[in-house]
Amino acid sequence: MSKSKVLVVGGTGYIGKRIVKACLDQGHETYVLQRPDIGLDIDKIQMLLSFKKQGAHLVEASFSDHQSLVDAVKLVDVVISTISGVHFRSHNILMQLKLVEAIKEAGNIKRFLPSEFGMDPARMGNALEPGRVTFDEKMTVRKAIEEAKVPFTYVCGCCFAGYFVGNLSQLGTLVPPREKVYVYGNGNIKVVYADEDDIATYTVKTIDDPRTLNKTVYLRPPENILTQKQLIEKWEKLVGRELEKCSISAQDFLAPMKELDYASQVGVGHFYHIFYEGCLTNFEAGEDGKEASELYPEVQYTRMDSYLKIYA
Ligand SMILES: NC(=O)c1ccc[n+]([C@@H]2O[C@H](COP(=O)([O-])OP(=O)(O)OC[C@H]3O[C@@H](n4cnc5c(N)ncnc54)[C@H](OP(=O)(O)O)[C@@H]3O)[C@@H](O)[C@H]2O)c1
Repeated sequence: MSKSKVLVVGGTGYIGKRIVKACLDQGHETYVLQRPDIGLDIDKIQMLLSFKKQGAHLVEASFSDHQSLVDAVKLVDVVISTISGVHFRSHNILMQLKLVEAIKEAGNIKRFLPSEFGMDPARMGNALEPGRVTFDEKMTVRKAIEEAKVPFTYVCGCCFAGYFVGNLSQLGTLVPPREKVYVYGNGNIKVVYADEDDIATYTVKTIDDPRTLNKTVYLRPPENILTQKQLIEKWEKLVGRELEKCSISAQDFLAPMKELDYASQVGVGHFYHIFYEGCLTNFEAGEDGKEASELYPEVQYTRMDSYLKIYA
């Protein structure tokens, strides 16, 4: 079977650049959307040029020019969107409605992967305000995809290691605490962590796979299903000393929420669902779900003790 041609939308982003690399590594003819809106952003331009050097095609199109999006989509078989969805960075999940319109009109797309890569929004119907906006908007995009009868795969289910592992899952920092570590409740809730490069590898593997057509693919590399306590232990073993543990009850964790800025409130809500409710692990994949490491056992995914070494 020939490999699909892929268009990556959001290719210069945090997960997007890894998806572009994975598409190239897995031998797909790879197109990357180049938005004129990026203007003088030299880092983005340089990154796009480096993709081109590695063999990708750059396609100019703008979200404010529907026809340009239709023309871009017509060049490929598969579209992967990695549009931004982290509030303290940038949040443009609903921009994808324009992309769905373009895909619908183009009529040639065999698979669309919207920007997901987090908690499964379909299971977050009772999420807290204001963080639920992430899930509500991702569900709005899913609804548009399904109403337009666009074939899809939703990839979700894990915490990005760069956001959740290097900092031992502490809020407000991306590096390990030196002395004291906050533990959510008893620290025994199971969480799924994954290296972003592995997330990209699994994501791209799904696109030509009939088993993942119109399914949700959960990323649950078995050895990376860890409690926060186990993660902390891995770090302590690596650095050869124990950190002071400070347990926070769910009530105390949520109490200061109202005084925080909007982006931090979103973050606290998401942490609550992951570390107190166990929203990544408190369900089975079910009939419409698949698990990535079962589908692709050949992927040698990064274990979190190995991931943490760079921080020591
Ligand atoms: N599970 C986790 O731990 C976790 C962590 C972080 C993110 N995520 C999820 O991963 C996904 C991607 O997030 P990210 O952090 O990788 O995103 P990001 O780097 O902040 O942004 C990705 C891309 O979005 C595009 N974009 C931003 N504003 C735009 C606009 N106004 N119009 C059109 N495109 C725009 C840009 O594409 P260009 O390349 O065209 O400039 C940007 O490079 C989101 O769905 C997010 O929720 C999950």
